[in-house]
Amino acid sequence: MVQGFEGMRGKSAIVTGGATLIGAGVVRALHQAGVKVMVADINAEAGQALADALGEGARFRRTDITDDADVEACVAEAAERHGGVHYLVNLACSYLDDGIASPRADWLASLNVNLVSAVMVLKAVRPHFQRAGGGAVVNFTSISSGVAQTGRWLYPVGKAAMVQLTRSMAMDLAGEGVRVNSVSPGWTWSAIMDQLTGGDRAKTDRVAAPFHLLRRVGDPAEVANVVLFLCSDLASFVTGADYACDGGYSAMGPESYTPAIPQLMS
Ligand SMILES: NC(=O)c1ccc[n+]([C@@H]2O[C@H](COP(=O)([O-])OP(=O)(O)OC[C@H]3O[C@@H](n4cnc5c(N)ncnc54)[C@H](O)[C@@H]3O)[C@@H](O)[C@H]2O)c1
Repeated sequence: MVQGFEGMRGKSAIVTGGATLIGAGVVRALHQAGVKVMVADINAEAGQALADALGEGARFRRTDITDDADVEACVAEAAERHGGVHYLVNLACSYLDDGIASPRADWLASLNVNLVSAVMVLKAVRPHFQRAGGGAVVNFTSISSGVAQTGRWLYPVGKAAMVQLTRSMAMDLAGEGVRVNSVSPGWTWSAIMDQLTGGDRAKTDRVAAPFHLLRRVGDPAEVANVVLFLCSDLASFVTGADYACDGGYSAMGPESYTPAIPQLMS
């Protein structure tokens, strides 16, 4: 194993939204690095199945991150069973979004899951970070944080706010030895893509090709690698940063692959 990941062995992590495809990728990567992982999700079936499959060093607790009592209980169980808490991955999300038609209740529900709950989980974890002398947080944001997407208002706004929240968290917790970063995936092979295409990965890659430089969607494991790095001592001088893991989506401009200048001469 590359030096830098060794320090993670025996540490303890909480991954919210860990039951889904991308979440499970992150849980697996941490577990493989020797981290004891608490999967915190409302999807009890998938969450428990993942913890059972991984066995020793993985636990699931049904946790609604919008419920403070649930959050407290989950963090307490992780700390007790896994010897503290050293890493937090705020990955759970809601795709509830009807653009301009969204009623107030949907706005509040969306931001509650996608933004506010990340703060509440961190607040619950903070005493354990303090006890351990520090920690690392990885917040999930998205390519959606920096561009307009048709019919989507709630989700991109929450993700954009998460980029700023990451900086605020990093600023105020740096003195406690806590690093806070975010990861911004591009289109990633995930539950929603699996469902919409009936499991057709090749079709998903074809649709994504025109707006990802690498001409495909990412794999959950590829996103998980960035999360692992950001948690690890290899990222010891990295905080307040947003890491793109988007196959070049955010590097591509509106001209896309079409050479624009020749069009002036045609
Ligand atoms: N899928 C993509 O292509 C993509 C792209 C960019 C960013 N992301 C980000 O990656 C992360 C995972 O995305 P995904 O597509 O796998 O999402 P998903 O909807 O498949 O998974 C989200 C998980 O969060 C859980 N969850 C929802 N509400 C919860 C709550 N109140 N309490 C606890 N758990 C709750 C769900 O049960 C689910 O397991 C998200 O943060 C998303 O914004 C995904």
